[in-house]
Amino acid sequence: MKRMLSGIKPTGRLTLGNYIGAIREFVKYQDEYEMYIFIANQHALTIPIKASELRKNTKDLIAIYLAAGLDPEKVTLFLQSDVPAHAQLGWIMTCLSGYGELQRMTQFKDKMAKQESGITAGLYTYPSLMAADILLYDPDYVPVGQDQTQHVELTRDLAERFNKRYSDTFKVPEPVVTKVGAKIYDLQNPVKKMSKSESSPKGVIDLLDDPAFARNKIKSAVTDSLGKVAFDPENQPGVSNLLTILSALTEEPIDSIVARYEGIGYAELKAETGEAVFNFLTDLQAKYKEILASGVVDQVLENGAKNAARIANKKISKVYRKVGLSL
Ligand code: TYM
Repeated sequence: MKRMLSGIKPTGRLTLGNYIGAIREFVKYQDEYEMYIFIANQHALTIPIKASELRKNTKDLIAIYLAAGLDPEKVTLFLQSDVPAHAQLGWIMTCLSGYGELQRMTQFKDKMAKQESGITAGLYTYPSLMAADILLYDPDYVPVGQDQTQHVELTRDLAERFNKRYSDTFKVPEPVVTKVGAKIYDLQNPVKKMSKSESSPKGVIDLLDDPAFARNKIKSAVTDSLGKVAFDPENQPGVSNLLTILSALTEEPIDSIVARYEGIGYAELKAETGEAVFNFLTDLQAKYKEILASGVVDQVLENGAKNAARIANKKISKVYRKVGLSL
């Protein structure tokens, strides 16, 4: 069975973009692959966050993974910080990464271009830690949204560099990007990614938003004045984003939705998409509440950490030998 690995960082509440671009894919693949899904909590420290908030986000994220349908019997679900080999290999990957190479990462460049204050060194080196997260487990595939593909490319380069310098050690993984919804856009500014940290409250749908409130956000989404429902991300980004969301949540192909909307306007498309979001969130949140109340989270994480550590510890020992850290 081929192996797959991915993670999400618990920096804030999760968005519909995280669900469509990532979590939904994990759930789809869990029967087909040996899956490792983790919570990248060390990555959450790259921007200042209160301990209580990080704890809450972490619990919420694991409950959402489970509510969305990840089955802990099939998938190894774990916390990054429970497996110290991530930080250990992270340092080695940082030392293998070029200074200029990390400067070219577009996510980092975008942050720098905004001249935000408080940019940490961790934000700069986090792609190297992400490479370690991946390479410890030799996955064949890494499912991610579009914004993370560059980091998976860097991971491939680092794996090849290490293998060349120290002999064959890591599998070179491939990114897998969903066909529908690799990038969900801000509802108010549909040329920008829907993001937990950067979207305006009306532009982002939070997975824990009140479902009726979320439906209203869809109703007030920015569209255009062309008046024809068509999938044309360049000229009609708002409408195309709604079509993508509707298609992802209902599994109806975009073409088929567009065909149904011949001669029908945006108000109807917004109403139908709003309803799909409302139903999806209502169902997800009911399961999320059940899971938190049941107290299964701790047990899932404990089992997950054991499974993950078994693989990661073997790999880090091998790496320590190869680079000369262990005598
Ligand atoms: P993060 O936490 O920013 O995002 C988690 C996943 O959600 C996807 N995503 C989106 N997909 C579609 N539309 C959007 N608007 C949208 N916003 C986010 C992301 O592409 C990602 O797949 N560095 C990573 C976490 C990480 C990781 C890893 C991932 C750490 N180590 C190892 C894979 C493998 C991150 O910050 O993702």
